[in-house]
Amino acid sequence: MTDRYDHLEYRRTGDSGLKLPAFSLGLWQKFGTDYPYDNQRDIVLHAFDLGITHFDNADRYGPPHRAAQKFFGEVLRRDLAAHRDELILSTKAGNPIGRSPYLTGGSRKSLLASLDHSLRDLGTDYVDIFYHHRADPETPLEESVGALVSAVRQGKALYVGVSNYDPERAHQAAVLLRAAGVPLLVHQPRYSIFDRTPETNGLLDLADDDGFGLVVYSPLAQGLLTEKYLTGIPAGARALNSAFLSPDAIDDTYRERARVLNKIATERGQSLAQLALQWVLRQSRVTSAILGASSPAQLDHNVRALDFPPLTADELALIDGV
Ligand SMILES: NC(=O)c1ccc[n+]([C@@H]2O[C@H](COP(=O)([O-])OP(=O)(O)OC[C@H]3O[C@@H](n4cnc5c(N)ncnc54)[C@H](OP(=O)(O)O)[C@@H]3O)[C@@H](O)[C@H]2O)c1
Repeated sequence: MTDRYDHLEYRRTGDSGLKLPAFSLGLWQKFGTDYPYDNQRDIVLHAFDLGITHFDNADRYGPPHRAAQKFFGEVLRRDLAAHRDELILSTKAGNPIGRSPYLTGGSRKSLLASLDHSLRDLGTDYVDIFYHHRADPETPLEESVGALVSAVRQGKALYVGVSNYDPERAHQAAVLLRAAGVPLLVHQPRYSIFDRTPETNGLLDLADDDGFGLVVYSPLAQGLLTEKYLTGIPAGARALNSAFLSPDAIDDTYRERARVLNKIATERGQSLAQLALQWVLRQSRVTSAILGASSPAQLDHNVRALDFPPLTADELALIDGV
């Protein structure tokens, strides 16, 4: 008898009936062909053993593009096929994955062709959540939303989401989707102590009003909200091997802010990473925080973030100060 469902909190996604684990696993980086398959497989299987049932993927993830989904498809086939009903698989389309005009954007052609390709790579008949990865001002919103609706009607997706949409566009999408009988399940924005945009641009409030959940990405600011960069840049860290996190981000201003946050965390008896995760999940409208991970040990550490007492008003004010 497995104990995998004893570890995590499962939160209802917006007004839907779907519960997601407070922590999801994302396959954006370190799941391409440039990292050893066995390490990647260990991380995915360990995540599932911890009760992380939600795996966030996209046609774009690798490198090269599509590699992360091919990798996940292999693990699904070899190790997790018997558990397909217990998994929430997400994919996204609409971020560029090639030079063709049909490998980018929010056209019906791009979105539905990408979804079909992702289903082949993942080796599954359906994904649980299909996202439009980012807004495309050149395509009528009705067309992008129509493609999401088609994906559900064709049985290729159970739910739909949008990512990186500003609140106004997200609201318009929610209205169109509701009218089509396919409610917007979820919005996926970036949210962390270092990027509070969903608080300031009204997205958190909109989630309540329109009844969707928020599954937030980069809650650790790609590792900046952990202890790893406090005294330098360790070998193997993302800041040394990713086009998306420059070593220039590790400057004196960063170190001072991280040091203050780390002190707050230490006084609470937790790590900076755990503080940062608890901070995003203090919002009831945040359904899940998507973790990136380069080892199973990082997951073990991070999922304990909700084992600590709630943040007090004084602690939240100190964090605001940073
Ligand atoms: N919708 C979108 O446009 C979008 C954009 C970006 C991401 N996402 C999704 O969100 C997921 C997560 O994004 P993210 O990877 O930026 O998340 P993150 O959780 O902010 O950063 C994860 C990275 O932080 C480091 N780390 C994690 N735990 C640690 C610990 N306890 N101690 C030290 N270092 C630790 C690891 O990097 P090292 O390699 O340095 O160990 C890990 O890969 C992605 O995989 C993707 O699914 C979506």
